[in-house]
Amino acid sequence: MNREDFAMCDSDIIYLDSGATTLKPKQLAETMADYYNHYSANAHRGDYDISLKVDTLFEKTRYLISNFINANTNEVAFTNNTTDSLSKIVWGFFEDYLQPGEEVLLTKSEHASNILPWFELAKRKGIVVRYIPLDQELKITLENVKKSITPKTRVISLAQITNVVGDIRPIKEITKLAHQHQILVVCDGAQSVPHMKIDVKDLDVDFLAFSAHKMCGPTGLGILYGKEKYLRKFRPLIVGGGMNSSFEFDGTVQYHDIPQFFEAGTPNIASVIGFGEIISYLENIGMERIESYERQLRSYAIAKLEEVPNIILYNKNSESGIITFNIKDIFAQDLAIYLNRYHICVRAGSHCAKILKDDLGIKNTCRISLYFYNTEKEIDALVEALKNPKLKEEIL
Ligand code: ALA
Repeated sequence: MNREDFAMCDSDIIYLDSGATTLKPKQLAETMADYYNHYSANAHRGDYDISLKVDTLFEKTRYLISNFINANTNEVAFTNNTTDSLSKIVWGFFEDYLQPGEEVLLTKSEHASNILPWFELAKRKGIVVRYIPLDQELKITLENVKKSITPKTRVISLAQITNVVGDIRPIKEITKLAHQHQILVVCDGAQSVPHMKIDVKDLDVDFLAFSAHKMCGPTGLGILYGKEKYLRKFRPLIVGGGMNSSFEFDGTVQYHDIPQFFEAGTPNIASVIGFGEIISYLENIGMERIESYERQLRSYAIAKLEEVPNIILYNKNSESGIITFNIKDIFAQDLAIYLNRYHICVRAGSHCAKILKDDLGIKNTCRISLYFYNTEKEIDALVEALKNPKLKEEIL
């Protein structure tokens, strides 16, 4: 879909690494260039026309994002990326909220960004990190969540779609269960918000983090969503201009209300304005359409990949456009380098989910991750390269 919008789709590159970052439609660069070339003023600081234009478009993006995920506008704060949002949630809120000995539940398939901040909190605050067991397909089950909850569990922090297994988690049901036990839920939406319709009110998650660059937007821009009642409890993490309304020589400070409270310093203005254009772009295509197209393409890819000799598919029964595999006796990175000869871009390694190896039984895999601009023809090219009868000789 919409391949004509992507300059890179015009090249001989077959880009199958959208889980790492997506391609960008020309509308993004055009919108950002327009800001840089024609009204490049700061945000929230000027009293002249072009600065008011910046303020209007900057806040319009916030409004578009809040509609996109069905949040209130003041519950959407700009950060640098998902990692930044998750770390801010942990340091800004949970460091004060949790007491020593209290537990956070994760899984071993979480991304580093949703594990390492909790490890740090365990060191600094004495909280306990525990893992919800995964089933044979490396998926989470409600039953296993139930079994993992103890009277000390205060927070469950999970990706909605994991970046290696690609399973879509039943976040709504998990949140319902968590709330019955007064447990808060943090949702890492890095791999889900770009690919499906998300409604934070319906999911009822307490926090959601995601990145613009994984959904056709600019790099260096992330979103931190939180329920207003929790965002108001954050302690200031980055302080300075743009987030205070007054301060006195004696240390008296008045901070801005949320969400400006989270946005100290000159923000990533061009990216925010560019991302507004992208939200409208995705809305025009339709998130339901994107999700259903990707599901279809995934089924096609699985069926085709199954024909490849010696392939090991690790997540045949997952639901998203993430497909993880190896070819028997070939090191994942070598395979990725081999595919690069055909201009096929896949990711190889542990994909930042470094403790999944305990459950997966293997450290390195190849991963393709699809988006709406990918085609069956591109899958065919991948499969043809993998079916090369001389594959092993050419790699080893
Ligand atoms: N988290 C990104 C990925 O899965 C970078 O590739």
